[in-house]
Amino acid sequence: MLVGLERPDDAGVYRLTDELALVQTVDFFTPVVDDPLTFGRIAAANALSDVYAMGAEPSCALNIACFPAKTTEIEVLREILRGGMEKAAEAGVPVIGGHTIEAPELAYGMSVTGLVHPARILTKRGGRPGDKLILTKPLGTGVINTAVKAGCAPEESVRACVASMLELNRAACEVMLRYSPSACTDVTGFGLAGHACEMLEGSALGMRLKWASIPLLAGAEELCARGLLPGGLHRNREFRAGAVEFAPGVPGHVRDLLFDPQTSGGLLIAVAAARAGKLLEELRSSGIARASIIGEMTAGPAGRIVVC
Ligand code: CO
Ligand code: CO
Ligand code: CO
Repeated sequence: MLVGLERPDDAGVYRLTDELALVQTVDFFTPVVDDPLTFGRIAAANALSDVYAMGAEPSCALNIACFPAKTTEIEVLREILRGGMEKAAEAGVPVIGGHTIEAPELAYGMSVTGLVHPARILTKRGGRPGDKLILTKPLGTGVINTAVKAGCAPEESVRACVASMLELNRAACEVMLRYSPSACTDVTGFGLAGHACEMLEGSALGMRLKWASIPLLAGAEELCARGLLPGGLHRNREFRAGAVEFAPGVPGHVRDLLFDPQTSGGLLIAVAAARAGKLLEELRSSGIARASIIGEMTAGPAGRIVVC
């Protein structure tokens, strides 16, 4: 075992030979959008993301689903699975099986298996002082999905949010691997602050983030101002507030969105400062338009994130 539960990462890693390691992860959740086909695609993109975050290449996937057969048309499940298969196919990943149980609440996701060279595993904890931090997708999916449920999300925000959740982290991973990154994770349910804190755990390192450089989905700022915050945002904040220090003048919506739980969020990459500019340039020219250098790793204080 190379990466397991004593130091949990985006995926577990198990050595097969000196040259090859197995990467395994499972992720599933309840619908974040109404359209079943879109939900299937997003859930698959999200599940694949943990393999990309390890710097690995996904090989194959299994479906996992909970379905309330008594209250929901079977066609809904078919569409979800079709969406998942389509997104996996876009990633070049065959879906080779799966399992569905009857349950009171609908949920869907995948268990994804990937491969990586044991010497090239990217974990959350390889960052070094001075490394730049690159985030590849804008924040705000939690706030916007909450506004959708409340029936008050602007159309432009919904479009940007869905497009972002649908985007595979495949290209971001391929580009990043050409620049010898020192650490990586993907930003999902714990929000940017939560996943950033995980990159600092067990080290003497800290982080400095520049709030004005953090990419945000269109409309997320305004929805925060209207108080449309998901329950998960408050829980994330309670859990990590002590580790995050905001300089005076950091706007309220940034203080909220740092804790916003993301669905199928971007990669958070630590890379040597000398290579960061080139990496960012290539990410953007590969279509990852909102990628941004959001800050850097610092020599301390240990485990603290300073936002200024
Ligand atoms: Co992850
Ligand atoms: Co995950
Ligand atoms: Co990782």
